[in-house]
Amino acid sequence: MSEVKLEYDGQTYSFPIVVGTENEKAIDISKLRASTGLVTLDNGYVNTGSCQSKITFLNGEQGILRYRGYSIEELCEKSSFVEVMYLLINGELPTETQLSTFRTDLRGGDNLSNDVRKFYSLYPKDAHPMGIVSATLSTLSTFHQDLTPGNLSADQKSKVMSLLLGYMKSICAYAYRSNTGKAFVDANPDLNYVEDFLSLMFADDKGQYEVDPEIAQAIDLLLILHADHEQNCSASTVRLVGSSQANLFATISAGVDALWGQLHGGANQAVIEMLEEIQKDGGGYKKFLDKAKDKNDPFRIMGFGHRVYKNFDPRAKIIKKACDSVLSKLGVNDPALEIAKGLEEAALTDDYFVERKLYPNVDFYSGIIYRAIGIPTNMFTVMFALGRLPGWISQWKEMIEDPTSRIGRPRQIYMGETARAYTPIGQR
Ligand code: ACO
Repeated sequence: MSEVKLEYDGQTYSFPIVVGTENEKAIDISKLRASTGLVTLDNGYVNTGSCQSKITFLNGEQGILRYRGYSIEELCEKSSFVEVMYLLINGELPTETQLSTFRTDLRGGDNLSNDVRKFYSLYPKDAHPMGIVSATLSTLSTFHQDLTPGNLSADQKSKVMSLLLGYMKSICAYAYRSNTGKAFVDANPDLNYVEDFLSLMFADDKGQYEVDPEIAQAIDLLLILHADHEQNCSASTVRLVGSSQANLFATISAGVDALWGQLHGGANQAVIEMLEEIQKDGGGYKKFLDKAKDKNDPFRIMGFGHRVYKNFDPRAKIIKKACDSVLSKLGVNDPALEIAKGLEEAALTDDYFVERKLYPNVDFYSGIIYRAIGIPTNMFTVMFALGRLPGWISQWKEMIEDPTSRIGRPRQIYMGETARAYTPIGQR
């Protein structure tokens, strides 16, 4: 069947079926309003495909996640974050020469200018680092005002994407340093991307930092796992803002804001806070499961449930394994890990969670690894943003290079007052 028929108001209309390379099917309703006068209503875009994309495939029923056709499991085992950045943005794994050029381009964003660094001193000391990261990206848009899609040649676009990826190491690390009152240090060209990020964050005031390969490897893995996830809340935000041809830095800043919320990337911070609360409360899970099931209580088990994954989240599986291994390699004994495992087991055998197909997502175990590495809780979502940046950039690039893409502009069904006469103030 290559079309769908809609009967409405005594007439029959046909709409084509679009079939993806993984046999996913969609009804193309782009002519629906023009032909029938109807729009669709889809709260939360649960059934709405907003674009055709070649970047990431995920199948929520089978727990499959692939970047550009490569399985997340294989990329985690064999690749590096920098290689994955290149893959997402360019569509293919790099050759040695391409990778070397890409690494050089990334170094172009090694150091934020002194003018940009000054802004960090103006934020309140207790500012959430996600707010600082978002504000810094917006600030950068004022220093790079020509970064709108229409102004960029292919070569400029490629340089600018690398510049932004390079800057992001310092943008994120300096959010931590300014929060903790530490002086900023410069990038170290002898270190690779992930090592350099760790150095920018943890080096002493003289810029000295000893790389622990276990820690660098764990962060590399986490960044790969977060690198893209097709049309989620923040990627869709990036596409929507970018669709108006806004400045690239401003567009990515909007993505950071969307990620911050606790129903999205902010869940990794919320998970650790929840595990700490359970620990403080004596370590029992039942009370918290009951609260999560109580429809009058807004509490949810953070790090559980997903709009698309209804079997398991393949990223959570990899992270759970990494969590055991990283903690044992670093000799860290964190009671939060045992609480998380116990809570997961209790939830997975509880009818409420089973019926609703609620499983641990990417955020459930990641915070325990970050904590073991010494990353403070309020920086967890910043780590997510650092990982997700190549995904946002790839989604932006794909959109602006697609000649059929249009400004994002949903419709609504108006339910408010109909036209009425103005009432003067004394008569209300
Ligand atoms: N704890 C308890 N109940 C839950 C949870 C949870 N974590 N998640 C979903 N439910 C319940 C809902 O109450 C709803 O129950 P009902 O059918 O009786 O009304 C049902 O499961 C379906 O949930 P929805 O909220 O409709 O699912 P939706 O797809 O809109 O939301 C979301 C997905 C936001 C991830 C949700 O599962 C959630 O709030 N999880 C906790 C926050 C979280 O971990 N977010 C990170 C997601 S991964 C990421 O963005 C990186």
